[in-house]
Amino acid sequence: MAGKFITFEGTDGAGKTTILNMVLDYLKEEMGDKLVTSREPGGNPIAESIREVILDRKNVDMDKRTEALLYAAARRQNIEQTVKPAIADNKLVICDRYLDSSIAYQGGGREIGEDAINEMNQFATEGFLPDLTIYFNLPVEEGLKRIAKNRAEEEVDRLDVETIDFHNRVHAAYQRLAKANPKRIKSVDATQSIDAVYQNVLEILQPYLNEFKK
Ligand SMILES: Nc1ncnc2c1ncn2[C@@H]1O[C@H](COP(=O)(O)OP(=O)(O)O)[C@@H](O)[C@H]1O
Ligand SMILES: [Mg+2]
Repeated sequence: MAGKFITFEGTDGAGKTTILNMVLDYLKEEMGDKLVTSREPGGNPIAESIREVILDRKNVDMDKRTEALLYAAARRQNIEQTVKPAIADNKLVICDRYLDSSIAYQGGGREIGEDAINEMNQFATEGFLPDLTIYFNLPVEEGLKRIAKNRAEEEVDRLDVETIDFHNRVHAAYQRLAKANPKRIKSVDATQSIDAVYQNVLEILQPYLNEFKK
């Protein structure tokens, strides 16, 4: 049995982290330490340090290509130090975001270009791709509504038109990625209830999970 690498992708508020936690709760009994989870940017101490630089509110002057390079650097560290060793040890690794996020956010959202971001990331990943990607497809407005629910009102007001354009470009890039990679990327309708999305995700994961159960 070989290890497997599975990623969750989609725009903010699509439900990736919620469903990943549900999958974890459900599977940790059955799978024990055969199941490893990670997140981007981050996943281990060095990559988490890079995450702090990327997400630090003080860094408003960060150039968009600097940002893209930092994401790629964090990615490199996570796959080399955490993901690949776990896979070599025959584990199932599920990661909250990976390369597709950079293509969608920095390539599409920040308009650096999807191909440029993909090419730059080839240096970081050496072509290492997930065995399976679950794409949580949610209309942008719905995602923003979900996030707004959890925030103070003055912050919600800062979601201006430009922000919505940004999120629309991210969503459009994800749609192109899903269409161009139908074998790797499986889409889930993330407008459904949390339970329905969870059931869809379990169905997609099932063929992989059976291999790893104790
Ligand atoms: N299918 C769903 N229906 C309604 N609300 C949801 C659904 N999935 C997630 N949420 C809620 O939306 C918010 C964002 O979810 P989260 O899992 O953090 O999204 P992501 O990790 O994709 O950004 C949370 O408050 C969560 O409870
Ligand atoms: Mg999340």
